[in-house]
Amino acid sequence: MTRIAVYPGSFDPVTRGHEDLIRRSLSFADKLIVAVAVNSSKAPLFSVEERVKLLMELLEEQEYVEVRTFDGLLADFARDNGATIIIRGLRAVSDFDYESQMALMNRQLFPELETVFLVPAVHLTYLSSSLVREVAGLGGDVSDLVHPSIEKALATKLGR
Ligand code: PNS
Repeated sequence: MTRIAVYPGSFDPVTRGHEDLIRRSLSFADKLIVAVAVNSSKAPLFSVEERVKLLMELLEEQEYVEVRTFDGLLADFARDNGATIIIRGLRAVSDFDYESQMALMNRQLFPELETVFLVPAVHLTYLSSSLVREVAGLGGDVSDLVHPSIEKALATKLGR
């Protein structure tokens, strides 16, 4: 049996925290689909196409990882791709309310789907894409928070 997991999110942009969870997921999933949400309600810094390209470049050497976009329900995307695991990161207690609601709703929609919550490495616990955008936007150093390729893309996007 091939265990396929989906790691959904906005990835605007992908951070060292996301990379950490991708690596951890591969210890129990045979294949991981990093799924970039097309219809996220947030106003993104990077377009979906840019986010996918950055993720693909970053993950090109990961044989068991694919990058895709998805539109509509995550549960449908998982079912259509033969996935039975959803990966989500839990950084703080404050993440729990929203994440548990989402996990229960996804199970309601697709009962064979299990959500697996992963805790990132402790030095990445405070990290989020929105903080990276804010710090980079205000001229701060994000070199410890994102891969150099993402740092470069942020600098270009922000006109630095
Ligand atoms: O980057 P985020 O904000 O953590 O990603 C949230 C995302 C895109 C994973 C979530 O909003 C989602 O799954 N959207 C797809 C629509 C859907 O299935 N909604 C019902 C989930 S309960």
